[in-house]
Amino acid sequence: MSDRKPLIQVNRLKKHFPVFSQGFIKRQIDTIKAVDDVTFEVMQGETLGIVGESGSGKTTCARSILRALQPTSGEVWFEAKRGRIDLATTPERELKPLRQEMQMIFQDPFSSLNPRMTVGDIVGEPLIIHKLAKGKELEDRVVEILEKVGMRSEHRMRYPHAFSGGQRQRIGIARALIMRPSLVVADEAVSALDVSVQAQVINLLEDLQEEFKLTYIFVAHDLSVVRHICDRVAVMYKGKIVEMEETEALFENPKHPYTQMLLSAIPSPDPDIKMKPRRDLVESGWLPED
Ligand SMILES: Nc1ncnc2c1ncn2[C@@H]1O[C@H](COP(=O)(O)OP(=O)(O)O)[C@@H](O)[C@H]1O
Ligand SMILES: [Mg+2]
Repeated sequence: MSDRKPLIQVNRLKKHFPVFSQGFIKRQIDTIKAVDDVTFEVMQGETLGIVGESGSGKTTCARSILRALQPTSGEVWFEAKRGRIDLATTPERELKPLRQEMQMIFQDPFSSLNPRMTVGDIVGEPLIIHKLAKGKELEDRVVEILEKVGMRSEHRMRYPHAFSGGQRQRIGIARALIMRPSLVVADEAVSALDVSVQAQVINLLEDLQEEFKLTYIFVAHDLSVVRHICDRVAVMYKGKIVEMEETEALFENPKHPYTQMLLSAIPSPDPDIKMKPRRDLVESGWLPED
């Protein structure tokens, strides 16, 4: 990793949400520090995991980086095609072309795809919105990316309900990748899928990463998945990163008590304190027996 340049440098990023009183006169009575002073970088081609319990700030952090949320303060330096830029302070009108370079894959393939659009329209829509292709070229690019994610060209005529959860997630991935992004943020992207299907989608994400030279920020609460796919892992707790390490070092030798707690919370058939890979993931063939 050391020979690579950072794609993203996050510097002292904060996202605070005001909490208002109920009633006629709304007063701010509190502040939720969902992301509270985090600093880290993601190298080109790297997969960075963000883990932590529900409510620890993972999604808010990811969305603040992509400027789906306006950060309260801090910097998010992004190595864009046209140069290095601080996304946190980029004016809204200049963000649109940058958004092509950063895409998101969502958790729930059942609600994130418009049920009234065909798969072809769903996957091709970003190209239409950004006026990047139309007609035959649009169709060719839709077919090309569908095949890259393991779908068939005739699938583009059908509607999302005709597909399984794993296939829908492939459609969501195709929609993200048709923009040829450099950064892909996957927020609990496989959490809703069965374990065997998770394995297939994870393998697909790894293949696509290599083919398209993608950098991933992989948000997940399932540590087995994170251990498999991530190069480094940041552990979030109450809006802060409490520990950040190379994946194997973190799992072998967690230093922060919160990380130790998280790791020990993985259900394991073995009473031994040392974490074992999850049985079902070993049996489905994508975590090594140890
Ligand atoms: N739009 C919002 N308004 C107010 N509070 C929010 C908003 N989004 C998230 N939060 C709060 O921020 C904290 C972090 O949430 P989130 O980033 O969704 O955590 P995670 O993804 O780790 O489960 C939680 O306390 C959550 O309730
Ligand atoms: Mg979340």
